[in-house]
Amino acid sequence: MNLQSTGISGFDEMLGGGIHEGKVVLVCGGPGTGKTIFTVQCMMQALGRGEPCVFATLEEPLQNIKKNMLNFGWNFEAWEKKGQLKTLDLFMIPGTNVVNSRDRDSGDTEFFTIKNIVDVAKAQGAKWVFIDPFPSLVIHEPRSGRKRHVIGELFESLRKLGCSAIVTSEAAPQEGDFYMEQFLADGVILLTKDLKDYNLIKTIRIDKMRGTGYDEQPRRYTITPRGFQVMNREPILI
Ligand SMILES: Nc1ncnc2c1ncn2[C@@H]1O[C@H](COP(=O)(O)OP(=O)(O)OP(=O)(O)O)[C@@H](O)[C@H]1O
Ligand SMILES: [Mg+2]
Repeated sequence: MNLQSTGISGFDEMLGGGIHEGKVVLVCGGPGTGKTIFTVQCMMQALGRGEPCVFATLEEPLQNIKKNMLNFGWNFEAWEKKGQLKTLDLFMIPGTNVVNSRDRDSGDTEFFTIKNIVDVAKAQGAKWVFIDPFPSLVIHEPRSGRKRHVIGELFESLRKLGCSAIVTSEAAPQEGDFYMEQFLADGVILLTKDLKDYNLIKTIRIDKMRGTGYDEQPRRYTITPRGFQVMNREPILI
């Protein structure tokens, strides 16, 4: 199976070279841990290799993400113009389906379903799909069983397409949800921030990666204007 570089310095080494093609990997972390930056950095690496990508945002408006990511030198619009990147600015309306915002300023929207994400990926010939944050897609579904089915179905459709996927999630799963996306994904990466003697320590840990061995130790990471970087050789406490 092909290994694909994440473009995250120090992290590919933890994975034994990169992410296996066709895996659905969940990146979990609390607010501001860097989930979006991690995801976009990985996407920019894939785009640079010439791979078509789909990026769906569900909470942070697309325009904000585009603007913030320019600080790292990552230009969504340049890739969109080349036709290699398709972006979706999605949000959920309680009691209805997913809505795609074609233009937030004018309020121009189109109705969407979770399956449409797969249709877009298919039409794009996507090699990668990124969904940030993923649980928002099923936030208004109260039935745990139904939620699990919808998540499982989406992951399976992406695998069948031969797409690799990175989907993000908040760290604390809702009680009763049985960490469902963590069980259904092929891989789980955890981002945490802890205070130790008034020092903030940011750590990344691979919790699972089906079908491969990996560095099980938590490792420190930083976010700088150069992006997300993992110090995979240093001890956690210095
Ligand atoms: N230009 C920058 N230079 C250095 N660090 C930055 C820069 N921009 C953002 N950061 C850091 O990255 C963090 C936010 O990253 P990101 O938006 O990826 O987090 P997130 O986990 O997606 O947050 P949320 O839960 O709100 O979606 C900020 O809290 C800040 O620490
Ligand atoms: Mg985010």
